[in-house]
Amino acid sequence: DIAQWLDRPLVLVGLMGVGKSTVGRRLATDLAIDFIDADEEIEAAAQMSISEIFERFGESYFRDGERRVISRLIDGVPRVIATGGGAFMNDETRALILQGAIAIWLDADIATLVERVSRRNTRPLLRGGNPGEVLTQLAKVRNPVYAQAQIHVRSKDGPHNRTVLTILEALA
Ligand code: S3P
Repeated sequence: DIAQWLDRPLVLVGLMGVGKSTVGRRLATDLAIDFIDADEEIEAAAQMSISEIFERFGESYFRDGERRVISRLIDGVPRVIATGGGAFMNDETRALILQGAIAIWLDADIATLVERVSRRNTRPLLRGGNPGEVLTQLAKVRNPVYAQAQIHVRSKDGPHNRTVLTILEALA
């Protein structure tokens, strides 16, 4: 039973639209541990939406808040944490995750990501650009870094439940 030996959080990393929050929530339910969405924690702490934080204070301010929130959540308690797509790119945040948690890279092809982000586009990094082009560019830069995660799971087009099972298998 995985939840028995788990002594640290599971942190989902990967590009926007890959399903980190949905998969994370279901994974946590299956393991009977808490789920926390880091982006929501940041919004609650700042009393502002992520778009608003980007607009009013800029991306580096957001990254700093993100690092602080994630560092607080990595405390040896087993839980599932969904991070925003850029969190793992920050050297300090990534070091915190790799040392104190198990990083799980959720990966999908660009077409799947585009389809998923189009359903609800509130992402500042996609504003004003072609989502396919932006995500392709981000994937090029970020995938080699996401690859440092301890676990790599490809999220297929199908139901997220399949992805959750694959993660559980990888952990077992
Ligand atoms: C970002 C991803 C977003 C959010 C912010 C920046 C990124 O989270 O943190 O808009 O840099 O990829 P999701 O990955 O949950 O969309």
